[in-house]
Amino acid sequence: MSNNTLVLFGATGDLAQRKLMPALWHGFLHGRFDDLDIIGIGRKDWGTNGFRAKAKEACRPEDEKQWAGFEQRLEFFQADVENDASFDALCRHLEGRENLLFMLATLPELFPRISERISKIKNVGFQRVMIEKPFGHDLPSAQKLHRLLRKHFGDQVYPIDHYLGKSTVRNIMVLRFSNPVFEPVWNHKYIDNVQIIQSEDQGTSRRIEFYDNTGALRDMVQSHLLQMLARVAMEPPKTWSPASVSRAKANVLKKVRPSEHVVFGQYNGYESEVGHPTDTETFVALKAFVDSPRWKGVPFYLLTGKKLNKRFAEVIITFKPAHYMDQQTLKDTLTITLQPDEKFALTVNLKEIGQTELKSFKMEYCQSCDVQTFAPQNYEILFDEALKGKKTFFASWPEIEACWKFIEAVQSKVSGQKPQPYEPGMSGPQAAGVITEWKDYVG
Ligand code: BG6
Repeated sequence: MSNNTLVLFGATGDLAQRKLMPALWHGFLHGRFDDLDIIGIGRKDWGTNGFRAKAKEACRPEDEKQWAGFEQRLEFFQADVENDASFDALCRHLEGRENLLFMLATLPELFPRISERISKIKNVGFQRVMIEKPFGHDLPSAQKLHRLLRKHFGDQVYPIDHYLGKSTVRNIMVLRFSNPVFEPVWNHKYIDNVQIIQSEDQGTSRRIEFYDNTGALRDMVQSHLLQMLARVAMEPPKTWSPASVSRAKANVLKKVRPSEHVVFGQYNGYESEVGHPTDTETFVALKAFVDSPRWKGVPFYLLTGKKLNKRFAEVIITFKPAHYMDQQTLKDTLTITLQPDEKFALTVNLKEIGQTELKSFKMEYCQSCDVQTFAPQNYEILFDEALKGKKTFFASWPEIEACWKFIEAVQSKVSGQKPQPYEPGMSGPQAAGVITEWKDYVG
């Protein structure tokens, strides 16, 4: 038996199979989870062999010997968390283990019941709990969830935003604060606008019911997009401790304000996927401002949507044009790409040999293109950090609350309006073109 046990609720679900198991396998291959047993919990009658077989399908190992080493750490425990006797049996099964890291990859409605029961398990080491977003569905429910989890686990709660596990997102602060070339120009005097775009070409896949109750604003803006915005817009933290970084992020998130420009969209065909008429948005584009001296008047454009024309995620910082002799320069941009590759690109004005006109040239570093580079997967980083008790790459409750306040403010701008239709495979509703700076926007 290992010293650490990951107890994975929702082990038969989509997230566990698509992302969590591959991340654990990837980490195991690179020596991260040497001392970890993984117990999958689910209602289905998979058994340990079934769980291992599904995990193998999801992880597609190339080396059977290494897989055998990983597989023997996987166990499945069939339990229905809504049934007392079944849950009691699970708790007894976990008793006496040393450190327990719980991952709740289940419907949020089950969080109260699961946390109450698991917090009573008598193990000998720590108990930590990782929860998936959305954290509540509005500010009061998020606050309620926080109170509940704090009651059972104190400060040992790790709210996951998997974008914080992405290497390029983690590098935003590094880029800003460890390179003197950026910080002096990181303000309204030099920056023209900031775009944060997450565009998906896929629909809602197997999560239609969850998605229809959530919508793009809560699913993507409340978490991933605002977390990226916080890293771009935050003031330098006093220290690099997780608490201090989180304070700096929460402080800036409290200052984000939506403008009147908010467009909700819904792709044609969505209602027939849901099976009834619905006003849930599958697309959001908005313009926001950060009310701080640093960002005075600088628009932040946020855009996200499903079934758009391409899959990519980028943060684009566009600088104001300078003057070179008697010419106006082209606007420089710093683009941080999260998807499909992870890369950084800076455009600068230069002249070609023998030419007099300024041209824009791109300098680029692609982190994920070098296949030799060991690129940990998002959830792998997050499991590893939670096992070590480190919170740097998790969302904190003050940040989560500030994000919900922003979401409420956005909702108030569109209340009573129907989302605007758009064709799948296009770049969103026409009206969004007016408020976005997205260079490829075609409507
Ligand atoms: C999830 C959302 O948090 O992030 C999904 O719930 C979305 O709707 C996904 O598709 C996008 O993540 P990634 O890492 O594929 O950009």
